[in-house]
Amino acid sequence: LKQQLKKKQPSWKSLGTNKKGSVMGLVLIGCGKMGGAMLAGWLEQGVEKETIRIIEKDAAYGESLNAKFGVRVLDDIEKLEEDFDAELVVLAVKPQVMDDVVLGCKHLATKSNFISIAAGKTVSYFEGILGEEAKIIRVMPNTPAAVGRGMSVAFANQNVSSKIKETCTNLLAAIGQVSWLSDEALMDAVTAVSGSGPAYVFYMTECLAQAGVKAGLPEDQAMTLARATVCGAGELMFQSEESASQLRINVTSPGGTTQAALEVLMGPDGILKPMEEAIKAAEVRSKELAG
Ligand SMILES: NC(=O)c1ccc[n+]([C@@H]2O[C@H](COP(=O)([O-])OP(=O)(O)OC[C@H]3O[C@@H](n4cnc5c(N)ncnc54)[C@H](OP(=O)(O)O)[C@@H]3O)[C@@H](O)[C@H]2O)c1
Repeated sequence: LKQQLKKKQPSWKSLGTNKKGSVMGLVLIGCGKMGGAMLAGWLEQGVEKETIRIIEKDAAYGESLNAKFGVRVLDDIEKLEEDFDAELVVLAVKPQVMDDVVLGCKHLATKSNFISIAAGKTVSYFEGILGEEAKIIRVMPNTPAAVGRGMSVAFANQNVSSKIKETCTNLLAAIGQVSWLSDEALMDAVTAVSGSGPAYVFYMTECLAQAGVKAGLPEDQAMTLARATVCGAGELMFQSEESASQLRINVTSPGGTTQAALEVLMGPDGILKPMEEAIKAAEVRSKELAG
């Protein structure tokens, strides 16, 4: 697995240099589940701790972050050292507190690149607070980021340079795979497919286990089988160069048991239509939440 991850992730040690040649700095605001996973990934990649600052208001939590990661923690972004080059500001707080956090970054609006991972917060929302010249990247990650296997999809406004986009790709590669959008409107579809997607796979696992119970297996054993099968199939797909369809064909002998099951799953009352409806529902909800 480690080898696979290495193969898929570029190797990089620092965030690069700015126009003046000094090493770029990164400010992480919000070091919870997602921010913490990203930070762990960056440090594992060898990014120098001195190039990162964490902003955390709660003193006790700040101390625990400092002890855990060895990265300097400040309780206010206004307290950044004057010679700290805040080229990148990663906004990893909940959408509900974003207004306050972004307002607090206004003094960096013309200097920094802002990378937001908050669901539903659009580029124009950030431009509305930081100004139209602000450099904004909006990212939708998903929960497997916690184990380095996330899918992050990013969109940048026209003010962001290609060099910064490349740095952002490296930053996100620390928590999994990265893909870029050229049309922000597709972010709702992204949210519906990869953002919410892990939950569909968990539910599919539950269904597989329940069907196993109906077929006579003890509940525990049915869940063990279902879970291991989903994890194993996911890992096989991750490691293989072959498409999902080809992997399916590879395990479907003509006239065999898999084919019998797939005729149901792929038939007129199969899972494609409910899946399309589910994605549509999530997409609609994503649009509603963004207002
Ligand atoms: N988790 C996911 O699967 C996922 C997927 C896609 C996108 N996202 C997005 O990622 C963002 C973070 O989610 P999360 O799950 O990582 O949330 P989380 O675990 O609650 O982390 C947010 C962190 O931000 C801190 N914080 C709050 N206000 C702050 C402030 N003013 N200054 C500095 N730090 C502050 C919180 O501290 P306190 O706890 O002390 O308030 C907490 O440590 C959200 O916008 C979410 O939409 C998450």
